[in-house]
Parts: sequence; structure tokens; C-alpha cells
Amino acid sequence: MAIPVDHYAVMGNPIEHSKSPRIHAMFAESVGHRLSYNAQLVPVDDFEEAVKRFFDNGGYLGLSVTVPFKEQAWQLSTVRTGRAEKAGAVNTLWMDEQSTLNGDNTDGLGLVRDLTVNNSVSIKGAKVLVLGAGGAVRGVLEPILAQEPSELVIANRTVSKAETLAGLFPEQPVKASGFSELEGSFDIIINGTSASLHGDLPPVPATVIAASTCCYDMMYSASNTVFNRWALGQGAGAVIDGLGMLVEQAAEQFAIWRGVRPETIPVLEMLRNELSGG
Ligand code: ATR
Repeated sequence: MAIPVDHYAVMGNPIEHSKSPRIHAMFAESVGHRLSYNAQLVPVDDFEEAVKRFFDNGGYLGLSVTVPFKEQAWQLSTVRTGRAEKAGAVNTLWMDEQSTLNGDNTDGLGLVRDLTVNNSVSIKGAKVLVLGAGGAVRGVLEPILAQEPSELVIANRTVSKAETLAGLFPEQPVKASGFSELEGSFDIIINGTSASLHGDLPPVPATVIAASTCCYDMMYSASNTVFNRWALGQGAGAVIDGLGMLVEQAAEQFAIWRGVRPETIPVLEMLRNELSGG
């Protein structure tokens, strides 16, 4: 008799370049779990039905959700974790034994873990600048704040959006700003704008960077991202791109679904090697 296999997938649009199937396959192999995980291209108006169809089958247990469906996944989730609630977006869905659809957001945990564990950059007590105020930034704010930075400034082209995000955390040392008003340097600068998708830079004054500044671009690419190249040019002490965040957020998903957190460094090294054509 065939041994039943648990099924997982990532849903997005577009999806063909997703690294998630490879990442989860490597995780499963490393911990000796038998499961399937594939990428599903979902038409933009069909996400709700696609989720229903997926979980209607026995053994179909969890979904990763990516652009543009994270907000819809938040709406569909019957139960949400606190950080998903604040994020306004869900990237991890699973059906529990009571047939309740649960939603979490592991993006912020992935970012924090990549910074603090993989790169030994401490957020506690640090002056942190986050660039951008879209969905990607909202998704990571709570886990960053949980690390207790001394200050977190959200700077955005459209200042009102930064103000709205800062307003989600009234008890915390969070401020909103435009780019040109930024003053002084920061310990950690996180680029969460989509400017780099178009090869653009957020127009940030160079004074935000000091020799001890660590810059983190939530995007990744084969060589340094446009933002990280700029940061190095201004004398930043270290630059990191978002490949580690991608792997770490996936490991958090795997832990939620499978009850075991896989080793991430071998997967990250393999992907980095592939990305740089090695
Ligand atoms: P995502 O889901 O990737 O966060 P989004 O919600 O559309 O996408 O947000 C994109 C973010 O990148 C916003 O903060 C946007 O600034 P505005 O809110 O002012 O639109 C920012 N952004 C996009 N292109 C930019 C550019 N060329 N320069 C600076 N900021 C840019």
C-alpha cells in the first residue's frame, strides 16, 4: 500500500521564478519528511476558490502565499497570529484538525532571523531606519519592534503612508518621515521600497549612512542590489540582501507545518551559489 504524502504549495502570480519549491524540498529532505510542494499560478481573480479547492482534498495541509495574494489570504484566514494581524497580510496558511484555516506571516521573523542569527547584527537598542511603507514593510514591522530597537523611523515617498504604519504601534518608539527630512545616521537601514525593481534608489540623504551602518535590502540579486551598491559607495560597514530572509521565512513556515525547524545555512549557501552562477 502506498504511504500517504502530505501536500503543500505556493500560490502567486507570477510564480515561475519562485524558489520556494526547491527550498521546501531541501528542508524536507534534510529532516527526512516525505511531502510534496509545488508552485501554482493562480489567476488574479481566483485566489479564494483556489485555496478552497486546495484544502478540500485530504492530505493537502499548507500553503505559502506570495504576491499579489497576501492581503486576500489575511481576509480568508479564520484565525490569525498576532503578528499576522498587525502585518495585514498572511504568507502562510494551514488547515488544522478542526478544519479551521489559520494564517500567519513569517516574513518579519525571516528578516529578523537573517539579521540577528545569520549576520550577527543586533537590533536591540539599535537606531533603525526602514525605507518604504507598502505591504512588504508593514509585514515586517512587528517582529523588528519585538527586538526592542531604541528607535524605528519609517521613511516613505508618500509620508502619509509612513504615518499610517507608525500609527499601528502607538506604544513603541516609531516615527514617520519623508526621505529628505531624515537627519543623522542609523545603525541599521532596511530597504523595503520596490524602487529597486525598476533599478531606482529611494532618494535618501547620504548622511543616514555611517561607517558602522548595516544596510539590508529586502530584495536580492546575483550581484549587489542597486541599493546595496549605493550604500557601499557611501561607506556603509556592511550590506546584506534578502536571500537569507527568503530562506528563513520559509523555515518558519516549515516549522509551523511540520513541527521541526530545518537547518537553513546549507540551503542558503546552495541558493547563493546558484544565483552567482557557481
Ligand atoms: P510592496 O508590496 O512591495 O511593499 P507596495 O505596497 O506597492 O509594494 O509598496 C511599494 C513601496 O515602495 C512604497 O513604499 C512606495 O512608495 P509610495 O508609498 O510613495 O508609493 C515605494 N516606492 C516604489 N517606487 C519607489 C521609488 N522609485 N522611489 C521611492 N520609493 C518607491
